[in-house]
Amino acid sequence: MKGLILAAGLGTRLRPITSLKPKPTIAVANKPLIHHAVDNLVEAGVREIGVVVSYLTLNSIKETLEGYPGVRFEYIMQNPPQGLAHAVKVSREFLGDESFVMYLSDNLFEHGITEFVNRFRPGESNAVMALVPVTREAAKSLGVAVVDGERITKLVEKPADPPSTLAVAGVYVFDSRIHAMIEGLAPGAKGEYQITDAIQRLIEAGDKVVPVTVRGWWKDTGQADDILDANRLLLTRLKRDVQGETDNATLIGEVVIGAGALVKDTTVFGPVIIGAGARVERAYVGPFTAIGDGCTVRNAELEYSVVGNRTVIDGVKPRIQASLIGEDVTITGHDSRPATHRMVVGDESRIALHE
Ligand code: G1P
Repeated sequence: MKGLILAAGLGTRLRPITSLKPKPTIAVANKPLIHHAVDNLVEAGVREIGVVVSYLTLNSIKETLEGYPGVRFEYIMQNPPQGLAHAVKVSREFLGDESFVMYLSDNLFEHGITEFVNRFRPGESNAVMALVPVTREAAKSLGVAVVDGERITKLVEKPADPPSTLAVAGVYVFDSRIHAMIEGLAPGAKGEYQITDAIQRLIEAGDKVVPVTVRGWWKDTGQADDILDANRLLLTRLKRDVQGETDNATLIGEVVIGAGALVKDTTVFGPVIIGAGARVERAYVGPFTAIGDGCTVRNAELEYSVVGNRTVIDGVKPRIQASLIGEDVTITGHDSRPATHRMVVGDESRIALHE
């Protein structure tokens, strides 16, 4: 079975984090989203993976996946991205007539995807879809399935009036029948070719589309709050592992400190991950925080936040909380008068200042 990871999108809802780097390269619990996707595919036995990219995402995605052991990646261009069915269409040559697992690179599953892949029986079913119960409100912004026993009987994409509250999670298993359904598909909302519409055509043709309910948590990381929550969920599994140096540091609970890092005169309440080579001094780092490799955090308090690699946070008051901070960012405070804010802030940034 082959794998297909979709990583061509622009991640506009995460700007400016995604202005320079595509969403699948954002680290959650100090690991890029796309690595979580590849890990899940490998765990399910898939080692030949097509990665669908666009000219804006190709270089960063390739760089992020470089050196990943034991997997053959093939990069497939989707220019411009025109929906999930279009991504399958441009991958036709790579996929051939084999069955494949399609994985949306911004999706995270607590228990991976092995169960969905194993449920697929060639010749007996034509597709398997992962479904997750959500609220009616949430269903309006996702694909929605109607299920009758062992079969999905209807699928709609982002319905104003959801026919059920079973949402489509971002992993699908298909046999080669899907290609015929994509041929001649009409574009849906925003001119995109929806995979949901192609699967609906499969259902109408009498093919068997099998539902599997997601066990444990599932997260679609479309917005900043989702990344923070995904980071929280992943960090709950953390086990203490202190490789770096500590000096007058109080570490409570599950704390990971990477090699070459220094944590000094600091209190850390886990679960917290501090990347390799980071320096954390005279600081407080609270639960559900991930600090990337090579960061500096000095004279600052940080909690429930994600900080990208090589970022510097120095002398900032009050505590930074629920914040998603990119790579190579500098945030400094100072005690001089007049007390002013001085900023160089990129387009579409969001900053909340409190007295
Ligand atoms: C896509 C699919 C949708 C699915 C969702 C899961 O939507 O079209 O059916 O429920 O992924 O993440 P998107 O998030 O690209 O808008």
